[in-house]
Amino acid sequence: MTKAFLKNSYVLNSVDNTRDYYRDWAASYDEEITENGYQTPKRCAEALARHQENKSVSILDIGCGTGLSGMAFRAEGFNNLHGNDLSQEMLDVAATRSIYQTLSLADLHNPLDFDTGAYDVIAAVGVISVGHAPPSTIAQMFGKLAQDGIFVFSINDASIADGTFVPAVEQLLASENALLCEAHYGEHLPKIGMKSTVYVIKKTA
Ligand SMILES: C[S@@+](CC[C@H](N)C(=O)[O-])C[C@H]1O[C@@H](n2cnc3c(N)ncnc32)[C@H](O)[C@@H]1O
Repeated sequence: MTKAFLKNSYVLNSVDNTRDYYRDWAASYDEEITENGYQTPKRCAEALARHQENKSVSILDIGCGTGLSGMAFRAEGFNNLHGNDLSQEMLDVAATRSIYQTLSLADLHNPLDFDTGAYDVIAAVGVISVGHAPPSTIAQMFGKLAQDGIFVFSINDASIADGTFVPAVEQLLASENALLCEAHYGEHLPKIGMKSTVYVIKKTA
């Protein structure tokens, strides 16, 4: 029987721990998470499509993992996808889907290594979370957008309960140049009763 990883993914406590965890999960991630009804990629992609008509905009899918989030953006017609992730093994699976123009390694505990305005859209699907990308990345990712850029991301129940992620979103939304396009709380992993909020925030200046 394949080892189950999902239930332990909310207690990762160091970057090395997280990297090793996803290295070991890469081969069975898609199957396990799909079995649990993973909805957030589709919800993020549909939310983005409601606010971005141009399907050729460049999207950086931060923490793209095996590419389930990229597949959801493709399903909505977006065709200029780039991805990064902490785990080379997750990226290796993403590469087999042939949907990303570029894939690279990144650790979100370090400053983002691309120029401001390099991407029209920054997406972080299931990534800004306890044991994954810290709350401080919310402002950092938004800051890397050019004017009119869009940030789409999710915060799951475990991270809402943590109490540090939602205040970071609220702090961002207090900025004059951050326009909340939508925020919807809905299904994340229904088989384990976990939900998430999907946010779409536009940079107005
Ligand atoms: C739950 S998966 C989501 C993957 C994909 N976005 C999806 O929706 O299926 C979380 C991803 O975040 C990546 N990750 C965790 N911590 C990270 C970090 N510090 N820097 C970059 N990626 C990280 C993991 O390697 C994993 O691929």
